[in-house]
Amino acid sequence: MDFSGSHILSIDQFNRSDINALFSAAEALEPYATRKKLTRVLEGAILSNMFFEPSTRTRISFGSAFNRLGGAVRETAEMSSSSLAKGESLADTAQVLSGYSDIIVMRHPENGSVDEFAKASKVPVINGGDGSNEHPTQALLDLYTIKKELIQNNKTLEGLRIALVGDLKYGRAVHSLCKILSLYEDITINLVSPNELTLPKKYISNSKIQINESESIEEGVSEVDIIYMTRIQEERFKTVNEANRYKGLLSLSKEIYTANCEPNTVIMHPLPRDSRKESNEINADLFDNPNLAIFRQADNGVVIRMALFALVLDVLDQVKDTSRKVNWKTTKNI
Ligand code: NCD
Repeated sequence: MDFSGSHILSIDQFNRSDINALFSAAEALEPYATRKKLTRVLEGAILSNMFFEPSTRTRISFGSAFNRLGGAVRETAEMSSSSLAKGESLADTAQVLSGYSDIIVMRHPENGSVDEFAKASKVPVINGGDGSNEHPTQALLDLYTIKKELIQNNKTLEGLRIALVGDLKYGRAVHSLCKILSLYEDITINLVSPNELTLPKKYISNSKIQINESESIEEGVSEVDIIYMTRIQEERFKTVNEANRYKGLLSLSKEIYTANCEPNTVIMHPLPRDSRKESNEINADLFDNPNLAIFRQADNGVVIRMALFALVLDVLDQVKDTSRKVNWKTTKNI
């Protein structure tokens, strides 16, 4: 793909060399993401962060990534505070916003909505999650995390075994993750979900991937390198009561982990994890486990999104021109 000026709407746009290009851009930007160096390469540029569904990590990390490159961020965080609530079409909103900004990130509750918006936009649009369909930047940061965590355990993506656990029907993060994993061969995916919430098969396009399906977490998490837990996506069900039926069925505890997992099996989750007692996707007795990578994973969201901005706005080779030392001291090492 030619990143420069492109919309980033789906993992379908990526091949392995695009991913390598993105990950090497991320490596180059690590000193800026971890506040060892400062750059103003996007000075004067404006990101419109349009989030029409709840978000903490995705919205703030996109904003932080843009700010860390020196750009400014405008935000709309609620459908009710935007003109969409007055009946404006996505196309009109896109025309207007692309007059005000250099790039737009959008999250919206309807599948396909970000594509529709992008068609009318004069500037690049990045999909921050469209309904239960896709969440491409989450998959990019997840794969980056998987690679980094595997290196710590002297492993590579070659021969990766991963368990995807939870709501695989509505979870857009797992949908995009399955698409990205489909670019690799020699991969085993254990799909662990209640029968009613299985993965729509269109998200795994590579017939060379070995797929094992199960309703049992004990079975699914044995003999894997990575366990990827997910939340029951209650906002996608007709009623909360319907969603409640599935909460707590697939919960990972120290007991299950110790009895079934190989040493150093990495635990991931796109977050937010539902920590209410009826759901409890990751039990508190695992919080001290050094293989719990969830916050390292969330941190990687900033550097991956910086890399994406740098490639789409075509400034990667200019980053060092404005590179300076960081003057401030943060209280903790990052
Ligand atoms: C995910 C999402 O919004 O799809 N969250 C995120 O962006 N990190 C997962 C979820 O909400 O369960």
